[in-house]
Amino acid sequence: MKSVLFSRFFILLPWILIVIIMLDVDTRRPAPSLTPRPYFSPYVAGRGGARLPLRRGSPDSGPGRGAQKRNQSGPQPPPQPEPPLPTIYAITPTYSRPVQKAELTRLANTFRQVAQLHWILVEDAAARSELVSRFLARAGLPSTHLHVPTPRRYKRPGLPRATEQRNAGLAWLRQRHQHQRAQPGVLFFADDDNTYSLELFQEMRTTRKVSVWPVGLVGGRRYERPLVENGKVVGWYTGWRADRPFAIDMAGFAVSLQVILSNPKAVFKRHGSQPGMQESDFLKQITTVEELEPKANNCTKVLVWHTRTEKVNLANEPKYHLDTVKIEV
Ligand SMILES: *[C@@H]1O[C@H](CO)[C@@H](O)[C@H](O)[C@H]1NC(C)=O
Ligand SMILES: *[C@@H]1O[C@H](CO)[C@@H](O)[C@H](O)[C@H]1NC(C)=O
Repeated sequence: MKSVLFSRFFILLPWILIVIIMLDVDTRRPAPSLTPRPYFSPYVAGRGGARLPLRRGSPDSGPGRGAQKRNQSGPQPPPQPEPPLPTIYAITPTYSRPVQKAELTRLANTFRQVAQLHWILVEDAAARSELVSRFLARAGLPSTHLHVPTPRRYKRPGLPRATEQRNAGLAWLRQRHQHQRAQPGVLFFADDDNTYSLELFQEMRTTRKVSVWPVGLVGGRRYERPLVENGKVVGWYTGWRADRPFAIDMAGFAVSLQVILSNPKAVFKRHGSQPGMQESDFLKQITTVEELEPKANNCTKVLVWHTRTEKVNLANEPKYHLDTVKIEV
């Protein structure tokens, strides 16, 4: 009887010891963290130390904020929600021509790098073209594809272009925001032959009503710009008709969505509009020169260029299709 008890005791003893040791080790070890510890983070303190956000370089956590958080202990108040980034609406009139897809590709490559941008592409056509539809579907950008043909009588040299297309873009914006309270937004006219610096989008995003900036390679000069004194626009540096109320190129201004919605009748006019007066005629309806907000360091930096693609030489293009495959260009 006694030997049976002993043998049972010796069988159990190692197990009891193991259990005791494991319990002991477990209480000494700091509680395992739920998320894997980033060993490369300089912000992670030693064992059991406070865990801190990793996103050092992210735009919303400057060094100041990081330092604040490091210092806090106990439950932290929920972070303040960031105000929504105003959406930039880029209205691009476009028409079929040999360089169309090349120009749109250039533009899409720029726009894809801009946060919260919505591209409104308006074709001068009786229907949406397959080329542009396919292009947009693969562009990887939030976009809207519209079309409106320019009436034949307006297709003459010397007459302003893209009036109907810009107005179709404006109409779409107004329609879309008809019922909801407008989210913050900024609209600009992004012709498909211009070149845009990414900095331009940062500048225009803070537009409160109407903002302006210089434009390069336009009006027969290296640049045109609004003249600014004490932070206000007081005139125009331009090589052409400085007497225009707003002597500015289509690429030189942005308008807040709010202003577009509160001036529902503001459109580009055909009737009574002289060549080169499109911008002035439009801006007159929604703002005054005194109200303009100069951007780009008080209008001293060129962030957009009125580039012009050279007319392509298709002199050797055969009249009839000769290649064995059909290729979209
Ligand atoms: C915590 O922040 C306060 C000021 O907010 C500062 O006086 C104090 O030295 C900081 N403590 C540590 C441990 O950094
Ligand atoms: C523009 O000019 C105004 C008045 O001279 C000045 O207060 C402001 O800081 C300037 N803005 C920039 C971005 O330089």
